[in-house]
Amino acid sequence: MSQELINLIKNRRSIFPASYTREEISKETLLEVIEAANTAPTHKLTQPWRFTIFRGNGLVKLADKFAELYQEGTPAPLFMQKKLDATREKVLQSSAVIAINLHVSGALPEWEELAATACAVENLWLAASALGIGGYWSSPGTISQLSDFLNLAPNEKCIGLFYMGYHQEEPKAANRKSVETVVRWEE
Ligand SMILES: Cc1cc2nc3c(=O)[nH]c(=O)nc-3n(C[C@H](O)[C@H](O)[C@H](O)COP(=O)(O)O)c2cc1C
Repeated sequence: MSQELINLIKNRRSIFPASYTREEISKETLLEVIEAANTAPTHKLTQPWRFTIFRGNGLVKLADKFAELYQEGTPAPLFMQKKLDATREKVLQSSAVIAINLHVSGALPEWEELAATACAVENLWLAASALGIGGYWSSPGTISQLSDFLNLAPNEKCIGLFYMGYHQEEPKAANRKSVETVVRWEE
């Protein structure tokens, strides 16, 4: 089991919407991955992560919002219908998209709550991988313009969108520098 767990961690990859099969992810399954996220470590137990889960018609609303942001934020000479369509398509190819929101409590330095939220996302990502669901963390500049759409409180901000879908991708090794480059021993 411990080696299985290590392999799960090492084999987690970013899987993008073009690879999703569009099979529905049940609410029950989504809650299972959120349960995993919710057990992440958190200093003073502030549990600073918040999630807005888009599925079904919620995905259409999110796709429309991204299309609107692209249209509003792109000067006419740079506007490309292909880009707008691709932005919408990415959302609509997903079986669920989870907005990752940070709730800043003020009880701790903000970086600690950001770090805890990133731990929660890794938990979510691993749990999804274990269930055969692919996903990836997307952080476009437009996330800073989603506060009203997501009904966020003044002390909350969106730090990314987690796209999700079942997929048939073959396992792929991680593309990383070797551990020697990131470790310094003091013995
Ligand atoms: C905080 C964070 C933000 C990310 N934002 C994006 C993004 O905007 N677009 C993207 O294609 N990948 C994004 N990624 C995914 C990384 O590109 C990906 O994890 C990296 O290439 C390693 O690949 P792997 O996840 O398959 O191991 C993000 C990852 C993290 C942790």
